[in-house]
Parts: sequence; structure tokens; C-alpha cells
Amino acid sequence: MKQKTFYDIYNYPDGFEKRKEFWKKQLNWHTDLSKLKDKKVLDVGCGTGTFSKILHDYGADVHAIDLSKESINRVNKNYPEIKAEVGDALELKFPDNCFDAVMSIGVLHHTNNSYKGLQECIRVCKPKGRVIIILYTKWHYYPLMYNGFKLLKNGRKPEDMPKWIIKAVKGFAEWYYKEKRTEDDAVRLIADQFFTPIARFHSEFEVRKWAEDNGCSLASTSTTYFGQHKIYNIVKEEKERKYDVASGEGFYAKVDEGKLAIAGIALIASIFFGAMNVIANGFLVMAVQAGGFISYITGLALLFNSIKTNETT
Ligand SMILES: C[S@@+](CC[C@H](N)C(=O)[O-])C[C@H]1O[C@@H](n2cnc3c(N)ncnc32)[C@H](O)[C@@H]1O
Repeated sequence: MKQKTFYDIYNYPDGFEKRKEFWKKQLNWHTDLSKLKDKKVLDVGCGTGTFSKILHDYGADVHAIDLSKESINRVNKNYPEIKAEVGDALELKFPDNCFDAVMSIGVLHHTNNSYKGLQECIRVCKPKGRVIIILYTKWHYYPLMYNGFKLLKNGRKPEDMPKWIIKAVKGFAEWYYKEKRTEDDAVRLIADQFFTPIARFHSEFEVRKWAEDNGCSLASTSTTYFGQHKIYNIVKEEKERKYDVASGEGFYAKVDEGKLAIAGIALIASIFFGAMNVIANGFLVMAVQAGGFISYITGLALLFNSIKTNETT
């Protein structure tokens, strides 16, 4: 019989209505989840199905995978409407470009190659589709806590923690989420925070580069809970298209970096020469010269405009 993995034993407890509301708000800030109605969506590393269920409630056709057989069994039992199966985030068994959106919530940083995981999410996402991932962030006190705790564990398991810690975590979870919870849930929460076999920490700079190297744009990001996670809202589009960060939708602009640099230098030079002009000649002479200059530029622009019109008609 196959040995149970860490996540078979300590899968993240489902439920936590307040957690669901929190995440719904967070994700909706990045993209309108109601637009996923009837769309094919993949939840990579679904755990016990909390997010798959949220997406399904928005009307999406949800497919889900997780490495943990135990977690998938729970999803199939509790949410038969979700098409859940065992699978590896680093080797998705789906063809290219087949999902309208791909989500992976707090998963890729627990694999041994977060970048490969993101590449897989992008691969199976349709062009113009959306990939939303949540990763541990690098510049935070949490990586220090996580790595410090590693030294203290000394072979102990989550359930070997002193009873008072387990009780304290249970009390905190019940106070924070306003929901009754068991000590077993508390053990799973401790396991999720400090005992996971792998945890990686990534910066926004890194993830932006990963996205752009794979033909995508990072449309928006946000920080969650106590700041230890970041949400990355990635659009599968050519990278020179810059999206409206606020809405993540539609608008894009093509920027020619070379021309932009020349325009910047010209602007700085014009401010410099303008200042020199004022110092040397005073405001009145400068105003007369500026008038002459503006009429000259306007004339040239109109001339070019008429040539373009002649060409196109
Ligand atoms: C912190 S849990 C998050 C679960 C779920 N996304 C949620 O937020 O409720 C991490 C999940 O990643 C899964 N996981 C870890 N490595 C994986 C891999 N290589 N492929 C698929 N799932 C993986 C674990 O089994 C676990 O269910």
C-alpha cells in the first residue's frame, strides 16, 4: 500500500466561513469571479476543496487536482459536483490552452520547483486567460519564524506539541474565525504553518520575471492576512501589453522603450534650456520665443498630419 504523505495526514481543514469570505473579497478585487460562470477553471492543489467550492458557487465548471489522495477523497465525498483527481502540480495531465482560468492557492511554494509549477499553470491556461497564484512572500518575518522553528522541531510531529500550544491555537482559531473547531483542526493548522516538508519564499520581482519570461503580464498583486502571502494576478498575454492594474481588464498600451527614452531626454533638455533662457533673457523674451516655438511645432504637426491623411485616403 502507498505510504501516506504529509498532506494525507495533515490536510488543511475545510470550512472556516470567515476565511472563505476573506478570500472571495481578495480574489474579486483582482478579477470579477462572477465572470467565471460556465467557464472551465482548474484549481491546482485543491486540498480539501475550499476554493474549488467557492469557484463552483460562482457557476464555474471546476476541475481540481491535488497530490494527496486523502484530500481528493474528501473533495469527491463532500463536493461531488467538482471534478477532482490526484495529480502533480509540476506535471499537469491536461493539454495546452484548455482552461479559461487556473488558480493555485498556497500550493506552489510547497513544491520543490515553484517556477515549474507556474509554467504548468500558464501552459494549460488559454490565451487571454487568467492565472492566479498565492505564494509565501520573501520579505517578511514569517520565513525567519519558519526556518527558526525547523531548528527547534527536533524530529517532533505537530501532535507532539505541548498541549497548551494546541489549546491556544484552537482558542485563537475559534476567536478569529468565530467558529467551533476541534483540537485536531488546531494540529492541522500548526502543521500547515510550521511542519510542511517544503516551504519556499518568493519576491514580487521574481514572480513578475517568471510571468514575463513565459509571455504573460503581472496585472496586479495584493498582500494577505498578516502579510506572509501575496496574490499574483497573471494574464496570459504578450508581455508588451501593460494591463490596467486597478481592473486587470481590457486596456493595454504598447510602449516603445527607445522612443520613450528619447522623449524623456528631450523633456529634461527642454526644461534645462527653458531655465537657461529665463536666467539669460527674462520672462518676456522667453514668452515671445515660446510663442514662436509653439506655432512652429503646430505647423510641423499639421503638415505631417496632412501627409498621413493623404497617404491613407
Ligand atoms: C496549504 S494546502 C492548500 C490547499 C488549498 N489550496 C487551500 O488553500 O485550501 C497545500 C496543498 O498543496 C498540495 N500539494 C503540495 N505539493 C503538490 C504538488 N506537487 N502537486 C499537487 N498538489 C500539491 C498539498 O497536498 C496540499 O493540499
